Order: sequence, then C-alpha cells, then structure tokens
Amino acid sequence: MSQRYVEISNLVKAYPNPFGDDFRVVEGLNLNMFQGEFVSLIGHSGCGKSTVLTMLAGLNEISEGGIIVDNKEIDGPGPDRAVVFQAPCLMPWMNAFDNVMLGVKNVYPHATPEERKQIVEYSLARVGLKDSMKKFPRELSGGMQQRVGIARAIALKPKVLLLDEPFGRLDSLTRMELQDVILDIVAQEKLTSMIVTHDVDEAVFMSDRVIMMTNGPLARIGEVMNIHWERPRDREEIFADPKFFEYREHLLSFLEQRAHLKSDFHDFEDNRQHGKDNLLSFVKNPMELYGAENSHKA
Ligand SMILES: Nc1ncnc2c1ncn2[C@@H]1O[C@H](COP(=O)(O)OP(=O)(O)OP(=O)(O)O)[C@@H](O)[C@H]1O
Ligand SMILES: [Mg+2]
Repeated sequence: MSQRYVEISNLVKAYPNPFGDDFRVVEGLNLNMFQGEFVSLIGHSGCGKSTVLTMLAGLNEISEGGIIVDNKEIDGPGPDRAVVFQAPCLMPWMNAFDNVMLGVKNVYPHATPEERKQIVEYSLARVGLKDSMKKFPRELSGGMQQRVGIARAIALKPKVLLLDEPFGRLDSLTRMELQDVILDIVAQEKLTSMIVTHDVDEAVFMSDRVIMMTNGPLARIGEVMNIHWERPRDREEIFADPKFFEYREHLLSFLEQRAHLKSDFHDFEDNRQHGKDNLLSFVKNPMELYGAENSHKA
C-alpha cells in the first residue's frame, strides 16, 4: 500500500475580495492519503471543505501549494478523480443509461460501442439500477437520481472518489443504503476516497480517518481522528459499540468548540483588524486560530 497516494502540500486558496486584497479561505493545509484510504472532511459551514475537495478534483484553481496524485502533480480535472456532488445534475432529456454514457464516451473515445455499453450497464447495475436504465430523471426518485450520479462517477474507472455531501438531500434510510453502496464499490475497486459531510455518524461509520477543519478564513486541519474498525463494517455492530459514541462525542465537541470561535471570525471579516484583536484577547494559544495544533498528525 502506497504511503502517499494523495499528497496535499501547503495548500492555499485565496479568492479576490472587495478590499482589493485576497480572501484566504484555506491556508497551508497538509494532508496525505494512503491508497484505498477513506477520509472524511468535517467542519463548520463555509470553512472551506468544498474548496479543498474541488481543488483535489482539479475543478478549482490552486492558489499556492500543490496536490500530487499517484506521483503526478495535478493540473486540472482528470478521469482518475471522479466527483459526486449533492445534486447529481442529470441531463433531463436523457435516460439513466445515456446520462452515464455521456462521460464514458469522453473518457473512452477508442472503446467499441459494445465495450462502452458494458461499462454503462455494469455501473448502473452496481448501484442497483439494473431495471431502471431506460428511465428518465423525472421518473426517478431523489435517491435513484443520486445512484445515477454515483454510476456516472464509477463508470470512469477512477482511482480517487470525491464525494461532496452526496447524501445531503436524502432521507436517512436511503442515505444508509447509499453509504453501503459506496463502501462496497470503494472496497472492491480499492478507491482512495474523500467525503465532505456534516453528519458525524456518517463520518465515523464510513472513514478510516476523520479530518476536522478549523473555521475559515485561514482554515486548515485542526485535528485528525483515526477510526479503528476492520472492514467490511457491520452497521448494527458499530452502532452498538461504545467506541462509536466516543468517536462521535469527540467530533461533536470539536465542532462545538469551533462554533464559539466562529462568530469572532465574522467580526474579523467585518472589521478585520478589530476582529482579530478581539479574538486574540481571549484565545489562550493564538496558534489555535490558525489550526496549527495537531496539524502534524495529518
Ligand atoms: N468563487 C468564490 N469566490 C469567493 N469566495 C468563495 C468562492 N467559493 C467559495 N468562497 C468562500 O470560501 C469559503 C469556503 O467555501 P466552501 O464552499 O469551501 O465551504 P464549505 O466548508 O464547503 O461550506 P458548506 O459546509 O456550507 O458547504 C466561504 O467563505 C465561501 O464564501
Ligand atoms: Mg461545501
């Protein structure tokens, strides 16, 4: 197993702002991922989770630092990295089969029509849509549409699977079903995966490591929690394990602590120097503001 399949080094995202200088959302984020590892990215809304994930996807320009995937520095999107967003954004005039075929045609221009058909059919069957391939998005439930989104991603035969709140719009039963679908595929295809989620139970159940991000601006990794369960994981066993409650309590307390810091960062945005002074006056260790503590663990 490669020690560093994904290497995110000193990653910075700076958006231009109305003050004329840069709004540095993410500042100096470092994270390595093993091949086949499943990590969750968790943190308060607006801290920069999607920013990090879309930079890894190659969809969002990197301001400073770099990302290496399988020994190659990324420079834009590629079929080695597939993304599933909260909304699958299917083409409404195409059925499930054609929606998946769209990406397959781009990624496998030299495959025969029969080979492409097999890839699409296999991917849709893999997510449980064997009997619904000819249905149009309007004929599919939200969960089924998201299954098409997952099929579209895995049909590209990626090495890295990037999931940005993929179950955010689904009811809890469908969410659990799709978590299992993803975990099955990830294990079988040995995909290296990152999920952005607000759901601490989901993060604990699915991950090998949970990466907790500090609040932005200047967000980075605040803490990393290793999850020590073997795979495949049995949901009932895990939810009954006292360790599960320890993990989730730890995550919740991290988020709770950060919730208090958050309002001060809003002062910081409104009146940046004034806000910064306020914040520094009550935080014992100012480095904590910048997420420096524990970041070496990543
Ligand atoms: N294109 C952009 N231009 C300027 N600022 C942006 C842009 N995209 C995101 N931001 C800002 O970057 C910060 C991080 O955004 P991001 O979407 O990464 O947060 P997030 O952690 O994914 O939040 P959520 O949990 O709500 O999805 C926010 O303050 C957001 O306003
Ligand atoms: Mg987001």
